[in-house]
Amino acid sequence: MRHFLTLKDLSPAELTQLINRASELKKMHKAGKSYQPLKNKVLAMIFEKSSTRTRVSFESAMVQFGGGAIFLSPDDTQLGRGEPIEDSARVISSMVDAVMIRTFEHSKIEIFAKYSAVPVINALTDDYHPCQLLADMQTYQEHRGDIRGKTVVWIGDGNNMCHSYINAAQQFGFNLNIATPEGYEPKTEVINAVDAQIRLFNDPIQAAEHADLVVTDVWASMGQEEEQRKREAAFASFQVDKKVMQQAATDALFMHCLPAHRGEEVTADVIDGHQSVVWDEAENRLHAQKALLEFLCA
Ligand code: CP
Ligand code: NVA
Repeated sequence: MRHFLTLKDLSPAELTQLINRASELKKMHKAGKSYQPLKNKVLAMIFEKSSTRTRVSFESAMVQFGGGAIFLSPDDTQLGRGEPIEDSARVISSMVDAVMIRTFEHSKIEIFAKYSAVPVINALTDDYHPCQLLADMQTYQEHRGDIRGKTVVWIGDGNNMCHSYINAAQQFGFNLNIATPEGYEPKTEVINAVDAQIRLFNDPIQAAEHADLVVTDVWASMGQEEEQRKREAAFASFQVDKKVMQQAATDALFMHCLPAHRGEEVTADVIDGHQSVVWDEAENRLHAQKALLEFLCA
């Protein structure tokens, strides 16, 4: 049995195969071909934070694969009333074929996986968002081919998405420049745990030079709502705008996991402009996670 808690749970070869499979499944889906490898299988989806893309993509993936999905929120289950994670893991995993979890502390999902009888998928924690990276890597490959040896620039917060980009730099073989304000760098232990070329900057213009892919995310993640004002001030010069895009390669792509705030971390002309692939990126959540579900459960 395999889990998908971070990108490191799969080998580089498995990840490449999974991205290729995602594009294949996408073609089949667009051609209207029915493919149901998960008939009668059930995915439990535990959401302790909000979601649009993750919920819709996982639920649609299970229905299209011939199975079903159950949405579980702490408000309506015993999870929110203090039932131990270990007990919840044993009970829920005894009835379903896979469990997807979006939560706060990454340690929670690790404990759940330890006591789970079925594969556990990380659908975002405070530290990582590996499912988004599957979609991002698929999207890059579909638009520009192999990302190996290319340069990616991450601009903004050293958050869960940034940490997953650090893991992806190793697993997919790209160079990663990270531009954050002082005090908002990614965790040192995450950087030190990968074998990849990672460079830290405090200047987005410098970091973006010759980049093949420019990526950003919200300045205040879920759980940091009360820091919004403080973060707006700290990140003011880290907006991805025309000037930043002009530093990057002429054929650079722009990505954002969404939801986005136009006028904050990115200007409208960039996210709605010709280099932006955010809608493909969002759609690919469906196809990439289908490939993941097939890999873990079929
Ligand atoms: N990108 C992403 O995970 O979106 P949701 O929060 O809407 O699921
Ligand atoms: N960093 C963001 C990503 C949302 C998909 C958050 O954790 O809220």
